[in-house]
Amino acid sequence: GGERDLAGKHVVVSAGGTREPLDPVRFLGNRSSGKQGYALARSAVARGARVTLLSANAALPDPAGVDVVHVGTAVQLREAVLKAAADADAVVMAAAVADFRPETYATGKIKKKDGQEPAPIALVRNPDILAEISADRPRPGQVVVGFAAETDDVLANGRAKLARKGCDLLVVNEVGERKTFGSEENEAVILGADGSEIPVPYGPKDALADRIWDEVVRRG
Ligand code: C5P
Repeated sequence: GGERDLAGKHVVVSAGGTREPLDPVRFLGNRSSGKQGYALARSAVARGARVTLLSANAALPDPAGVDVVHVGTAVQLREAVLKAAADADAVVMAAAVADFRPETYATGKIKKKDGQEPAPIALVRNPDILAEISADRPRPGQVVVGFAAETDDVLANGRAKLARKGCDLLVVNEVGERKTFGSEENEAVILGADGSEIPVPYGPKDALADRIWDEVVRRG
């Protein structure tokens, strides 16, 4: 603790959850609060980094000393990541990105009509930002970190996801009642592409953030 081991580094963190609009008043979204990503941003500032926080719909105040870019959708987040990551030493994708978005956007509010069945919502795939930047690093040698929320077979699913995405580290959360979504605490395992497996016991999201930066520094 207390070390400025990220001094001179530029780190990019995504946080929150994307919202994929159906019409001007409705969206498909998820339950990510953004707290883990904001904790990562605060921790990186304290360790001396220049921090770009790409915030997707997090109802949290901008952290001091952080360059915050607010985005809405997965497509907007992708643009912001590619821009910010061009000179980044590390990219941490803590945001919950919607896998799909509605195929069409209605410019007027979708109305219900008496006696009519609801129209199905057609979805199309969103870009996988983490897989894209892992495969094609915007800056050579940059450390790329992903997140995964799993309900069962946490380690096996995490290993498979790490390989599929091609990132250096994958932080696997076990989703539960008192953990992860909206909570101040988290419990996770940090998996490394080098085979490492670091369990982080149940505790504050700030503590997990610090452990994640420890592993990034080790690989930077
Ligand atoms: O595939 P899954 O959504 O479980 O993967 C989670 C990880 O991948 C997170 O780090 C998330 O930010 C990232 N992701 C992404 N683009 C997507 C979906 C997920 O970057 N379309």
